[in-house]
Amino acid sequence: MPKELIEAGNSNEIKLGKMKRIEAKGKGILICNVDGDFYAVDDMCTHEDSSLYLGCMKGDLVQCSLHGAKFSVITGEPKEEPGEIPLNTYEVILEGEKIFVKV
Ligand code: FES
Repeated sequence: MPKELIEAGNSNEIKLGKMKRIEAKGKGILICNVDGDFYAVDDMCTHEDSSLYLGCMKGDLVQCSLHGAKFSVITGEPKEEPGEIPLNTYEVILEGEKIFVKV
């Protein structure tokens, strides 16, 4: 499927260290603010399909609220068990204050 630029709102909606969940192409995607830079990853934890939006962010890591797996929102890599499979990451493009994600 060709990638599309999806509008994901304004950068000032997502405070430092916070995330926003959007729906794009039938899946949930998190837009995360890490020190003023924005990154996008799948919302679904790769351990057992729980929404990472229900968890919390610390630095560049998001922690799943179900069993505690941590993933880098920059690379998608799992950083703490039981996370083993990386999250998909998506390119984020800023145009002024508007955020777009390539999905
Ligand atoms: S579902 Fe996320 S750690 Fe188990």
